Amino acid sequence: MRRIIRAFSPSKIILFGEHAVVYGYPAIAMALNLGTRVTLKESPERSMKILSENYNIEWNVFNEEPPPIFKPFKRIIDVIAKKFPKKVNALKGIEIHISTQAPAASGLGTSASTAVAFTAAVLKYLGISLSANLINEIAYEAEKVSHGRPSGIDNYIATYGGVIKFTRSEEGPRIERLNVENELPLLLVYTGVERKTKEAVEYVAELRKKLPSFIDGIFDIIGEISERVWNMFKNRNMDLEMLGNLMNINQGLLSAIGVSSEEIEKVVFALRKAGAIGAKLTGAGIGGCVIALFKDWSKAISAKERIQRDYLCLIAKPQNRGVYVE
Ligand code: MEV
Repeated sequence: MRRIIRAFSPSKIILFGEHAVVYGYPAIAMALNLGTRVTLKESPERSMKILSENYNIEWNVFNEEPPPIFKPFKRIIDVIAKKFPKKVNALKGIEIHISTQAPAASGLGTSASTAVAFTAAVLKYLGISLSANLINEIAYEAEKVSHGRPSGIDNYIATYGGVIKFTRSEEGPRIERLNVENELPLLLVYTGVERKTKEAVEYVAELRKKLPSFIDGIFDIIGEISERVWNMFKNRNMDLEMLGNLMNINQGLLSAIGVSSEEIEKVVFALRKAGAIGAKLTGAGIGGCVIALFKDWSKAISAKERIQRDYLCLIAKPQNRGVYVE
């Protein structure tokens, strides 16, 4: 019988601290109950094929150069081949299907959840013992191909799930992780404009070169916001009103460093008008998604009914489980 391996890894939202996290300030990310499904099947052919169901593109791995969207997978295969040279021959004779639930390039960590689920499925197929650390380490290499100099927060949350405080440092990231026990009444709205992580990160880097004390001053406040919010999570004491205020302040600061946009501001203000107590972009910005917090679920649902006439609108439920393989 032909073997089939299924892997799933969650998408994410950054609640607080995007961009600042690249420079060693803390950020808070939460895994979502939507993500990427990878299905690896043994095939009678002596080839390895990868198929994206969302883009309807196929790559015959050992016969041709990868199309641009598959370059991160090439990196994963190369890293696995280097680490486990005796095993890789077994990859000739499989087909891997990738299907993502979150809109691509929407700032929800689709590239990371895809890299993590793909790595987990391939390692499992090769009989390599699955450790979260190994999956995370290999997926980070793919994230570098996708985004240049990423902080690593996306692959970490896609591997471990839950809610994390992530702080980059020279010795490797410092991470605290919790399960989410009470769901926050959060809506997720896609602006319809693709976010471009690499460009947004480069833009901020250029601005920081010109105005280091201004940008670091802004990052200091963003870092303090993340610390305050993390204390709320740790103490299981979510002050929604305060959380909303902090989201609005974080949004203003992201706008100040140039990663908001007219479309994002339109969505932010539409959500506030519809009753949100806080709204901000999530992820790299310029396009992508906005998250909005409400006092309770009934307010979130009535706002959703209004906003979804114009925008793709989702309820952002957390997921405590990280990557898993069946
Ligand atoms: C990650 O989703 C968003 C950024 O903070 C980049 C990074 O952390 O690598 C903008």
